[in-house]
Parts: sequence; C-alpha cells; structure tokens
Amino acid sequence: MTNENVEVFKGLKNVYVTESKICLIDHINGKIYYFGYDLDVLATRSSFEEVLYLLLYGRLPSKNEYREFVDKIKKNMLLPEKIRRFIIDMPKNIEIMEALRSIVSYLGNLRGDGLDRSDETIRENAVDLIAKMPSIISYLYKSRIKERLLKPRDDLSLAGNLLYLLTGSEYDGRDVRGMDMSLILYAEHGMNASTFTAVVVASTGSDYYSSIVAALGALRGPLHGYANIAALEQFIEIGSPDNVDKWFKENIESRRRRLIGFGHRLYRIHDPRAKHYERWLKENYDRFDEDARNIIDIAYRLYDRAMKSFLAEKGIYPNCDYWSAQMYYALKLPKDVYTPIFAMSRISGWTAHIMEYIKDNVLIRPRALYVGERDKEYVDLEKR
Ligand code: CMC
Repeated sequence: MTNENVEVFKGLKNVYVTESKICLIDHINGKIYYFGYDLDVLATRSSFEEVLYLLLYGRLPSKNEYREFVDKIKKNMLLPEKIRRFIIDMPKNIEIMEALRSIVSYLGNLRGDGLDRSDETIRENAVDLIAKMPSIISYLYKSRIKERLLKPRDDLSLAGNLLYLLTGSEYDGRDVRGMDMSLILYAEHGMNASTFTAVVVASTGSDYYSSIVAALGALRGPLHGYANIAALEQFIEIGSPDNVDKWFKENIESRRRRLIGFGHRLYRIHDPRAKHYERWLKENYDRFDEDARNIIDIAYRLYDRAMKSFLAEKGIYPNCDYWSAQMYYALKLPKDVYTPIFAMSRISGWTAHIMEYIKDNVLIRPRALYVGERDKEYVDLEKR
C-alpha cells in the first residue's frame, strides 16, 4: 500500500487543466460564449462558416475575409480520388465513426504536413478537413447502401451540402438553417472529453491529425457524442408516446439503465443549447411527416415523465444530444451519421484548443494513486 496522502479527482471532476480564452460555460446562468460572443446570438444570427472562422482565428472576419474564407472552403470540398477509393474499399459493417477515424488519418498521410504546428498550417489542415466532411460522411453512408455518390455543390453552405449530399434532396431554407444552427451549437464546449483527448495528444508534440483521430475515438462513446444516436435508438425502442410511462418505470425508475440524452457533467440546469433546438422543432413540427412527429411526441412525453422523477430532483435535464437526435430524424438523416455530424462541427473546437494549448505547451501527465501491493515474491515460470 502507498503512504501518499493525496486527493484523487476521479474523472477529473472540477479539475482545471489550463487557462483558455475560447469558451466560457456559465453553468449557473445557462450561458455559453465562444471567444466572448454569446452563443444564443451566434446560433440565431451567424453561420457555421463564420463560427469556424471565429474559432480558428479568435475573432470575427471582415466581409472580405469571410468571402475569401468561404471560397477556400468551397475549393477544398471535393475528395481526392484516393480517399474515394479508400472509402469504397472499406468494410461496410463497421460504424461510420470507426471508418471516419481511419479516413481522417489517411487524409493526414496524404497531406503530409500534420507535424508543421504553425497556426497557419493547422488552420489549413482544419479547413481542408471540415470542408471535406460533408462528402466524407455522405460517401461513407452511401457506399454502404450502394447509392450513387454526389458531388458537393458550390452554391450551398457546409450545412446545405451536408443535407444535399446525404439525401440528394433539395431542402427547405428552414431546414438548412436548422442544420447550420446545430453545427454552430455543437462547435465548441470547453474542455470536454474529446477536446481534452485532442489536447493531451497535442501536448506530446504529436501531429494535428493524431489529435483529431484520438478525439474522434473519444467522441464515439455513448456517454459523449454517440449519445445522439443512442437517444434516437431509445425513442425508437419506446415506439409510441403511450409506452413512455411503462418503459420509464421498467428501465429508468428501476435504475436498470441511464436515460440517454439526459445529464451533463457541468449542468444542473437546462442545457443552454436545448432551447434553440426546441424552438426549431416547435416552429417546424407541422411540416414533419407522421413518423417524425411520433418520435418528437415520444421525446416530449419522456421529457415530461423524467421531470416527475428522481432526475429532476438531481438537476438532470435533457442535453443537446436529446434534441439534435430529433432534429436530424425530422430532417430524414440516417441515424449512423448523427455522431459524425457532431464530429464535423466539433473539429473546429478541437482545433481551437490545440492551437491555444501548444502556444504555451506543458506535457499533460497526471498521476494515478497506486493502491496495489508491493514486494510480491516472483516465482520462476517453470515452478508455477
Ligand atoms: N440517467 C440516469 N441517471 C443519471 C443520468 C442519466 N442520464 N445522468 C446522471 N445520472 C445519475 C447517476 O446515476 C448518478 O447517480 P448517483 O449519484 O445516485 O450515483 C448521478 O446522476 C451523477 O452521475 P455521474 O455519472 O456521476 O455524473 P457525470 O457528471 O459523470 O455524468 C454523464 C455525466 C453525461 C456521463 C451522465 O449524465 C450520463 O451518463 N448521461 C447519459 C449519456 C448522455 O446523454 N451523454 C451526453 C452528454 S452531453 C453532450 C455530449 O458530450 O455529447
């Protein structure tokens, strides 16, 4: 046993690992700020492209800078033939998040500049990657259902391209705006598990793509980014609003399972991002088909039920994944792409933190308190 008299912060709860100017999460008043700008304002008045610029440069662009930046994104949207081949040759039974990390890694190999950690190159890497994400996500999905792969369109934003490439449909402006808003809301959220992962890797002096690949691995877990897929699966499992009470009693009240899409390490109040999704779902509800309305009705009934349970007493409310799952379903997107869409957006936040952290880099190397035995007798193998 050890004699060390130290406190262990399991899960690094309430541990501050660095100082940052990127994101303020005011978990008391329910406000989030990106580089000082109120996320409620960005979500309603900005675009994902502009927020991406903000996160990469730490300031808003001028009109000219914005135009040039959007042009650059459009020039980077098309996938190199090698990436297309790679996607087509991939096993079709693996999850898209699993495939995505291999593609990001390969893209880094093809570019070959990931170890140049200047701001300029990291921004180039991020713009190149995020611009290609709508194509990568849709190719990954379409190649497994053997559908024709579409080319990104110059006249559409990143949100518009994402919807168009995935479904081949022309979307209503309100839908494109909804997706744009979702990308803005997902872009950044402080030192969450995937961002921390990206920063840990960057702190060792490693290359940009290694950080992003590692972060994708962290995002994939159901306690983090995969929760938007798992939340939808939960709504589908419940099946109808009338089944909510019974399902809740058997699974959540009995403490057999956790309610997915509920709870957050930082909040004991409503997730500040939720109201934007709720507003969009309410405003557009009448346009959705019966199937989508059923899922939304289940989600609302479940929410009401949860608010009458121990969850409300503990301050556990729906998080952004609970709502984005409903939006993406209403937009007719296949569920496998929900977490990859979160990833497309969050790459911007990961990149901002990597750039900020390595400017004043300290290797991240915490400790584990040893509680095992010592001086055990070693018996030679042949005598065991
Ligand atoms: N359902 C039931 N009980 C819950 C839930 C939930 N969703 N969330 C927390 N609790 C309970 C938990 O059982 C524990 O109870 P007790 O004190 O009696 O042991 C208490 O609340 C505290 O939970 P915790 O796991 O210590 O809290 P945490 O801060 O480590 O957990 C969380 C945060 C997100 C892992 C957790 O709320 C959870 O598992 N939620 C479900 C998965 C989910 O929706 N994840 C998305 C997170 S938000 C966006 C993102 O990162 O993608």
